[in-house]
Order: sequence, then C-alpha cells, then structure tokens
Amino acid sequence: MSQAAPPIAAVAPPRDPGPFLRWAGGKTRLLRHLLPYIPEQFDRYFEPFLGGGAVFFAIRERARGPIVLSDLNEELINIWRVVRDEPDAFLDALAAYEGKNDEQSYYEVREAEPPTELIQRAARFAYLNQTAWNGLWRVNRWGRFNVPWGNRPFRGYDAGSMAALTAVLQNAAIDLADFRDVLEQPSRGDFVYLDPPYLPVSDTSKFSGYTEKRFRAADLEELASICQDLTRRKVAWVMSNRDTALVRELFADHEVVRMTTRRSVAAQNRRDIEPTQSPEAIVVGRV
Ligand SMILES: C[S@@+](CC[C@H](N)C(=O)[O-])C[C@H]1O[C@@H](n2cnc3c(N)ncnc32)[C@H](O)[C@@H]1O
Repeated sequence: MSQAAPPIAAVAPPRDPGPFLRWAGGKTRLLRHLLPYIPEQFDRYFEPFLGGGAVFFAIRERARGPIVLSDLNEELINIWRVVRDEPDAFLDALAAYEGKNDEQSYYEVREAEPPTELIQRAARFAYLNQTAWNGLWRVNRWGRFNVPWGNRPFRGYDAGSMAALTAVLQNAAIDLADFRDVLEQPSRGDFVYLDPPYLPVSDTSKFSGYTEKRFRAADLEELASICQDLTRRKVAWVMSNRDTALVRELFADHEVVRMTTRRSVAAQNRRDIEPTQSPEAIVVGRV
C-alpha cells in the first residue's frame, strides 16, 4: 500500500544568511582559523570594525545578549540599517539599477551626485558594491567614491535572502561610531571581535582607505592600549591583523597566533594592492 506523500512546506525554510557585501579585508577566508579562538558563549557581542560582517554572521548565535555592530563608514552603516529596517523599500529602490551592466552606466552612477534619501543611497551603494572593481569601497580625501568599473553584472538581492538578513539583524544595534567610543561599553562576560584596517604595506600601496579618515599607526597604538584595558576589565577579545613587527610589539603581552593565508584571486592579479600570500596574525585577549 502506498503512503501519502508528506505535505510540501508552504513556506521555504529560512536561508542561513551570510555577508551580503563585497568588502576589502573581509574575513570569510580566515574564519576557520579565527573560530577556535572565540568563546563558545558570551553575553553581549561587539564588532566595532564591522565591514561586511563575516565574523558576525558566523558567531551571532554564540551571543546570549544584545549585539552591537559599528563602523566609521557612513555609507556602509546606512546600508546595514536599511537592510534591517526597510527591506521592501530597499528592494524596490534596487530596481532602478537593473540592466545597468555596461561601463558607461557604471560611470554615470558613480559620477552623479549621491541621493540624499537614505534608502536610495543604500541602493546606489549596493549597485557600486556589486559592480566596482574588486568590490572596493574607496573614497578620495573629499569623500568621493573613486573605484573603477569592475566589469561585473548587477544582480541585486532576492527577496528570500533579504528576509533572512532582516530577521537576523532585528536585535542588533548598528551604529556609526569610532572604535574608541564603542569600546568603553563592554564589561565582564562580553566578547569583542576587532578587525581594524591593515596598515599599508608601503607608502605607495594603492588601497588607501575605507573612509576619508585613514587608519594609521597611531590608531593601532591606541587600539592596543584599549585592548589592555579590556583585558583588565575581564572582557574577552580577539583581533585579526597583518602579521607585522608593529603588531607583534604592540600586542606582546597577549597570545599572537601567526599564519599565512592566500589572497583572493582578484587581489592576486593585482600585486600592487596586496601580495599573493598574506601573513596574518590573530591576537587573543584571554580573561
Ligand atoms: C578590515 S575592514 C573589516 C572587515 C570585516 N571584518 C569583514 O569581514 O568584512 C575594517 C573596517 O574598519 C572600518 N574603520 C576604519 N577606521 C575606523 C575607526 N576609526 N573606527 C571604526 N571603524 C573604522 C572601515 O570602514 C572598515 O569597514
């Protein structure tokens, strides 16, 4: 006797959301090295150099308490907030960029005055993020986006992925903030993941920054002293960075795990941006 087929689920199960932006220095490749150093459970989670949030997506379920995401890039924080708060209007706004897959369209969007309305602004950001060379977000000293065309089609986002992203962001604070201001908040039991911009390999390195305000050695020194303070306050933290003499010196009081990772294919093709092999350091602030 044949059995009745089980009912087909009317609603597809939620997809497991992951990074929705291309972001220089994204940590997807380093995840498997990082995860063993991150506590299994903690209270609040702080990620003050958010970027594309690869680590947030991987460990968000380890947090028992609120999640605090932040970055100093205003355009980046705007799109994260729009994805959290206005997914439908955002998907509508993306329709304006459909079919703009040629070089001329790209430069027209890039050169036009960015919209002031925040959802429209996020849509422009999504378009440039998907179609710019290597997904870089780089601005000149006047804050104008200046990345060349990447010869990639604009795909937008599908409604299912957007709904899954919106759902996981519901309980997250998403703040436009400098790391110094955010790192006053964590207390015992919380966990902080730090992924500051890597200092340039040389003064002539072409990738000069995510924001108008460059991240410099003095900022890294300040971060190192804030990390000492986090440890004193019994806050666990992990930092990823390029393995340099300065990093080893500044974080000498902590466990530094060193390794080499392969750069992305696109970066390998452009040796002026990053070397093929990248020496990485994971610094572990244990409590
Ligand atoms: C290496 S990226 C983070 C990448 C991220 N972990 C990922 O997986 O995509 C560094 C980030 O730090 C941000 N940033 C630069 N200076 C900052 C500052 N002073 N305070 C907070 N964020 C800053 C940049 O905008 C950039 O998004």
